[in-house]
Formats: sequence, structure tokens, C-alpha cells
Amino acid sequence: MSSEKFILAGVMGHPVAHSRSPVIHNHWIAQYKLKGSYVLLPVEPTHLYDALKGLKALGFAGCNVTIPHKVEAMKAMDWVHPVAKQMGAINTIVVQSDGALHGFNNDGYGYIQSIKDAKADWKANAGPITVLGAGGAARAIVLSLINEGATEIRLLNRTKSKAEELAEEFGPKVQVVDWNERINALSGVAMLINTTSQGMHGQSELELNLSELPLTALVSDAIYIPLETKLLAQAKMRGNATVNGLGMLLNQARPAFQAWFGVLPEITPELQTVIAGTF
Ligand code: ATR
Repeated sequence: MSSEKFILAGVMGHPVAHSRSPVIHNHWIAQYKLKGSYVLLPVEPTHLYDALKGLKALGFAGCNVTIPHKVEAMKAMDWVHPVAKQMGAINTIVVQSDGALHGFNNDGYGYIQSIKDAKADWKANAGPITVLGAGGAARAIVLSLINEGATEIRLLNRTKSKAEELAEEFGPKVQVVDWNERINALSGVAMLINTTSQGMHGQSELELNLSELPLTALVSDAIYIPLETKLLAQAKMRGNATVNGLGMLLNQARPAFQAWFGVLPEITPELQTVIAGTF
């Protein structure tokens, strides 16, 4: 552990002020008595390439990238991890000692881990999984579910062509269902996952009739602001187990922190309390 060097990292996004990543990483920097800081990097899309190429000169060990940079940032990388390449997006950049930029995507790992944290006996192949949305978050989650052994993923997106593209890339385990069929698509599933931005703070609500959803199904929302979306509140009320998006954020941060600061940090009850206090 290099406790002498001051290490800088951050999150690049636009907007980025809402991000809870500084709270998480700065908590770990203090907990492990490291010297460093994790800062907000508000960067407009037109400046993304220059900003990324400037990381080395500014002394950054790396950064996270978030909305709307996850896809575009790949173009500034010297190397991209195969999983991130398959996802078509990165969320973590590590600056190498020679200045090269390496891109990773820990979102899928973070998502799967958050589900396992919530339900220790969870299995990806327990039954069909319905996924709403086909954007960046969906790509990471769907690919990770397949790698985890999922056998049937019903994919629904407002813009059907995007779901079809994803199915073509990820293979026959992904079956595209029309967005208008979303009530029926819940029948017999082991899991329902929302990866759309609907229900997020500032966006419209996801209006979904859950009448066909088995009570045994696990309902998960990738959103963490608010912690309890209308979908999760509705699911909880009828007796379904639910998982919000905070665990995904916390778990994706662990390998990134390790790459920059040299310590694999723990998600402690103290950290959970600190984060909860920010909502
Ligand atoms: P992220 O990286 O968070 O996944 P994104 O790539 O912009 O963000 O994807 C947003 C997802 O939310 C998409 O699946 C989008 O559907 P479209 O592909 O049709 O745009 C979905 N979404 C956003 N607003 C929506 C709405 N009002 N109704 C249904 N889906 C919506």
C-alpha cells in the first residue's frame, strides 16, 4: 500500500453533481488512512476527449465515467477490457504508469454482486428474467446475467430496434418482447429488472401493472435516486422481494478503488449509514 503518494481520482459526467461516488470513495480513503481525494469532474460532451487525455497530466490515477460519457469515452482509451468491449461501454478508467488509458466496465459485476448481497441463494437460471430497457445499463446487466448462467431473458424497450440489436449481439438467450406486451411479459418470471431511466428523480414514473408477476419474483431497479422507486414500492406492497440500485453503485466502486488506491475496500454498515444520510 502506497500511503505516501497523494492519489487523485474522480467521476466525469454531465450533469454529475448528484453522484454519490465521492461519498463512497472519500469514505474509503479516510477508512484506510490513505492520502488522496475523489472529486467531481463536470465535463461537457464536447470536452470529453481532451479531459480524458488530460488525466495523466493532472496526476489522476483514473476516474469513473457516467452519463452521458460511458460509450464515447471508449474512443479515448488505449486499451479496453474484453467485457467492457462486449458491453460497448466503460465506467472506469485506470491511468497506467506510461500514461496509457485503460477502460473497464464494473457495472455488471456490481449489479450481480448487489443481487447476491441481497439474496445469498440467488441463481441466474432460476427462471425467466424480464428486463426493461436497452440502454447502457441494460447492456451491462444483460451480459452479466448471461455470463452468470441466465437461460431466458425477455427484453423490452420502448424503441424495439435497440432491444433487437442487443439480442442480436448477445445471442438467443435474449428474446425481444414488444413494449406493449409488458404486462404479459411478467408472467412466470423469477426476476423483473428495470434499467430504464423511468422512475429516476426528475423523470416520469414507470407505470407498470404487476398483476401477472409471480409473488416469488425478485424485483430490482438499477435506479438509486430515489432509493425506492414507484416500481419497488408497488412490488414491496404486494409482497415481492426488492433490490434497489445502491448496491450496484457500491459494488462497482470496489474494484475501481482497488485499481487506483491499491486496497480492495469493504462495504461496511458505517458506509451504508453515511450513504443513507445523503438521501
Ligand atoms: P443508461 O445508460 O442509464 O441505460 P440510456 O442509455 O440513455 O441510459 O438508456 C435509457 C433507457 O431508458 C432506454 O432503454 C430508454 O428507452 P429508448 O431506447 O426507447 O430511449 C429508456 N427510457 C427512457 N425514457 C423512457 C420512457 N419515457 N419510457 C420508456 N422507456 C424510456
